[in-house]
Amino acid sequence: MDATTQTRSLPVWDIFTRLFHWSLVGAIGFAWWSGEEGGTWMNWHMIAGYAVVSLVLFRLIWGFAGSPYSRFSDFLRGPGITLNYLKQVLSGKAPTYTGHNPLGGWMVLLLIVLCAVQGITGLFATDDIFTEGPLTSMVSGDTASFLTSVHEINFNILLTAVGLHLLGVVYHQRLKREPLVQGMIHGRKPVTNSHSHPALAPFVRGTVVAAIAVALFVLLYSL
Ligand code: HEM
Ligand code: HEM
Repeated sequence: MDATTQTRSLPVWDIFTRLFHWSLVGAIGFAWWSGEEGGTWMNWHMIAGYAVVSLVLFRLIWGFAGSPYSRFSDFLRGPGITLNYLKQVLSGKAPTYTGHNPLGGWMVLLLIVLCAVQGITGLFATDDIFTEGPLTSMVSGDTASFLTSVHEINFNILLTAVGLHLLGVVYHQRLKREPLVQGMIHGRKPVTNSHSHPALAPFVRGTVVAAIAVALFVLLYSL
C-alpha cells in the first residue's frame, strides 16, 4: 500500500455526537416501553420525552456548530448526488464516505425530525384520564386529541424509520465491512488519504451547547 492509498483510523464522531446518539436510543426505547406500560410509568414517559426534545435541540445546534462531519452541510447533499449514490448502492459500487453517506444523511435528518414531532406532540397529548402533557391545557380539546393521534401515528412512522436506519447500518457493517457501529462507539473511522482530515470541534463548545439542551430539559421538567 503506497502513501496515496493509506488508511488510518482517525476521529470522526466527537464525544457529544456519540453521547447524543446513544442517549437518544436509550430515551426513545424507554419512552416506548413506559408509554405502552402506562399507569404511573407515564411520569417517567414524560421525563424520557423531555430528554428526547432536549437531545433534538442539542443536535440541531450541533448540526451548525459541531465537528465537521456532524454538520448538516457535510451530509445533506442535493437530490442529484443522493440519487446517484442510490444507483451506486443498487449496482454494488457505492463509494465509502468518512461521515454520513448521502442516503444516510437524509435518514439522519428524518430521524431527528420524527423525534422532534414525537416529543413536541407529546407535550400536548392526553390519555383523557390520568396523564396529560404540560402544554395540553393551553390548547382546545379537539387540538389536544388531534395532537395525541399524531403522537400515536408518528411513533409508528418513527419505528419504521429506525428499522430502515438499522437495515442501512447492517448493510454497511456486514456486506461492506465498514465498522460504523464501532465508529459510533469510539468515534474513530478508517479514513483513506487523510492528509487534510479536519479537527473535531472544541470540547468547550460542545459543553456550552449541551448546557443549553440541559436548560431546556430543566425548563420542560418544571412546567
Ligand atoms: C431509537 C433508535 C435509533 C435512533 C432514533 C437513531 C438515530 C440516529 C441518528 C440521528 C444518527 C445520526 C448521528 C449524528 O450524526 O448525530 C444515527 C447514526 C448512527 N446510528 Fe443510530 N439510531 C437508533 C438506533 C441505532 C442502533 C440500535 C444502532 C446500532 C446498533 C445504531 C447505529 C448507528 C450508527 C452506526 C450510526 C452512524 C452511521 C454512519 O456512520 O453514518 N443506531 N442514528
Ligand atoms: C419523544 C419521545 C416519545 C415517545 C417515543 C413516545 C411514545 C409514546 C407511545 C408509544 C405511547 C403509547 C401510544 C398508544 O398507547 O397507542 C405514548 C403515549 C403518550 N405519550 Fe408519549 N412519547 C414520547 C414523548 C412524550 C412526551 C414528551 C409527552 C408529554 C410530556 C408524552 C405524553 C404521552 C401521553 C399523554 C400519552 C398517552 C396518549 C394516549 O393514551 O393515547 N409523550 N407515547
